[in-house]
Amino acid sequence: MMVCRVIFNKKGGVGKTTITCNLAAISASSGQKTIVVDLDPQANASQYLLRDRYNEIKEQGRTIFDFFKASLDGGSIFEFNPFFSHLSSPRPEPESFIHQTRFDNLYVIPSHSGLADLEAQLVSKHKIYKLKEMLEKISGFEAVFIDTPPAMNFFSQSALIAASRCLIPFDCDAFSKDAIFDVGKHIGDIQRDHNNALIVEGIIVNQFMARAAYPKKIVDELKADGLPILATKISSSVKIRESHHESTPMIFLSPGHKLTQEYQALYDEISRKGQF
Ligand SMILES: Nc1ncnc2c1ncn2[C@@H]1O[C@H](COP(=O)(O)OP(=O)(O)O)[C@@H](O)[C@H]1O
Ligand SMILES: [Mg+2]
Repeated sequence: MMVCRVIFNKKGGVGKTTITCNLAAISASSGQKTIVVDLDPQANASQYLLRDRYNEIKEQGRTIFDFFKASLDGGSIFEFNPFFSHLSSPRPEPESFIHQTRFDNLYVIPSHSGLADLEAQLVSKHKIYKLKEMLEKISGFEAVFIDTPPAMNFFSQSALIAASRCLIPFDCDAFSKDAIFDVGKHIGDIQRDHNNALIVEGIIVNQFMARAAYPKKIVDELKADGLPILATKISSSVKIRESHHESTPMIFLSPGHKLTQEYQALYDEISRKGQF
């Protein structure tokens, strides 16, 4: 069975994209056929994993933007009548949006800056289940990691509806602490109204400075409030800049690096873990 995870926080800059791509790379390197779905119009994950090929794919019209755009096309009550069937053009297969990266077992459904302009139409035409339907049609893959925009919008909702598990990155600052309670409420709403199978795997403490007092204090406060903080913490490292610059996730860039080991430990922790 395919395990579909969403990495979500309404705050930007907390490490969503970096964590999504590095967990997906570890999943792929462990032999699981893995897809990263990029739902952020900034397309950072797409560029991180596809490098130069990304522009080519955009020109071919094979991004998640093109998938959502096609979902707005057509649709006539007469399309069930064979006489009128020529009125509806077939929608492209999900496979046409999946692109192989330079790494074995690692694939991407890339994003596109045009995504934001489609949002209002997608909302008004009730397309919130389209991503879920698309992912359910895909066969032959074992893991999906969805990267989300820093907002509670149509795209992050679509992801929370499509996924069975959710990870929440957190960078130890006071604004992030406030955001996390909102995020928890939002996920609760989605669970209640759309996806009662959604499991929150936990909060990932990112760019943790083990020797500084303030980050530890803020993490302890969240724990005291009963929030599900994962045991593995991710350190801050300048190596991540090189990883982005080289468009190469840590496991492929530097398998023995401390940060790589932390991503591996995080992957192992969530693979073992049950529900909160
Ligand atoms: N463990 C880390 N150590 C150092 N820098 C990091 C780490 N994780 C993320 N960053 C940096 O923080 C910034 C935001 O990360 P990103 O993954 O793009 O967050 P988001 O997707 O939530 O906006 C980026 O510049 C990234 O390089
Ligand atoms: Mg991002």
